[in-house]
Amino acid sequence: MNYLQLEKLGEGTYATVYKGRSRATGEIVALKEIHLDAEEGTPSTAIREISLLKELKHTNVMRLYDVIHTETKLVLVFEYCEQDLKKYMDTHGERGALAPEVVRSFMYQLLRGTAFCHANRVLHRDLKPQNLLINRKGELKIGDFGLARAFGVPVNTFSNEVVTLWYRAPDVLLGSRTYNTSIDVWSCGCIFAEMITGVPLFRGRDNQDQLTNIMRIVGTPDDRTLRNIAIQSPEIQYTKPFPRYPKVPFQNIVKNANPAAIDLLDRLLQFDPSKRLTAADALRHPYFPAVTPALGYTLPPPGPAPFIFPHQQQLAQQQQQQQQQEAAAAAAHAQAQAQAQAMNNMMHHQASGHGVQQQVPMHHQLAAAQLSRHNMQGYPPEYPHGPR
Ligand SMILES: Nc1ncnc2c1ncn2[C@@H]1O[C@H](COP(=O)(O)OP(=O)(O)OP(=O)(O)O)[C@@H](O)[C@H]1O
Ligand SMILES: [Mg+2]
Repeated sequence: MNYLQLEKLGEGTYATVYKGRSRATGEIVALKEIHLDAEEGTPSTAIREISLLKELKHTNVMRLYDVIHTETKLVLVFEYCEQDLKKYMDTHGERGALAPEVVRSFMYQLLRGTAFCHANRVLHRDLKPQNLLINRKGELKIGDFGLARAFGVPVNTFSNEVVTLWYRAPDVLLGSRTYNTSIDVWSCGCIFAEMITGVPLFRGRDNQDQLTNIMRIVGTPDDRTLRNIAIQSPEIQYTKPFPRYPKVPFQNIVKNANPAAIDLLDRLLQFDPSKRLTAADALRHPYFPAVTPALGYTLPPPGPAPFIFPHQQQLAQQQQQQQQQEAAAAAAHAQAQAQAQAMNNMMHHQASGHGVQQQVPMHHQLAAAQLSRHNMQGYPPEYPHGPR
């Protein structure tokens, strides 16, 4: 193999993940070794599926560089990320809860990666904090996109641990097999709430318990909604009527969130899959201001029929005005400084100019450097709240 295997990074449902180093370039990568069934080996369809994922290139999707298939194992070579979101919340959060601006940045990046994959007809099916990787720059990368398709959504892990159902959409829990991109949107909603509060939103022990947990918060769907879901997924069979739970407003659950965050959460966590926002639409929700360079993201260019919320236009205008004012102030400041310097030089007859010097604090210099990088490349400067 062209990679040197280093320490173990973690263990998952299908695989063990190691840190690795390319023998050719020295680049650090993540090597994901898939446990193969000794008798069956890896089905060729799975390998074909996975190889297609090499084409899925996006800043917010973990890059798959290579697929190495030997007789005994399958190794996927991924871009390396420092830690996953679960560990990030444990180490950087306030009892797991992240600062509002960090939540917004991660949520934006999560939805952007998801929208990109959906646009390329790839579903994730198993979005959860352990599958979201955060690198040193504070970039969020979605891992394992498309893998669930190649291997099937697992019921049990190899180590006999039960796979978490906490992020699974209610239509899937009801037995839908004709689900679509909306199942990933549900998971995004669950992750959103968890980043805000620090605890997973729905923590069921099994399928039924998970459904009950969901209904206790979003409310038992009315008959019309259930009929609607049954039309979309005729394979769903209801055994007994559900207890009638009223909807609990999300304000009561994620108490510290602002109204825009609550509204977005509500639109992502719709019981009826056809009512859930798409990831692409969620990116245009008022929760995400139009231009926020300091957050490390810019809105994607609007599609063919852009829908811009009025407040976004207003915000962009305000921002532009502010930038103009700042530029004018900076120019005036530079001029004043130059004059002071010239005066100082004259007074001290010094050509070398050890005169009046403005001390610019280090973090301001860094922020300015990030902003200019942002303007030059049109893409994320390092995120100020990134892994410390
Ligand atoms: N590219 C990567 N860079 C660094 N660490 C990684 C990378 N990919 C995975 N890991 C680490 O290895 C762990 C195991 O990954 P893996 O995807 O196999 O399992 P999982 O995400 O916990 O569960 P599942 O198998 O259901 O996806 C992850 O939780 C993460 O901490
Ligand atoms: Mg994973």
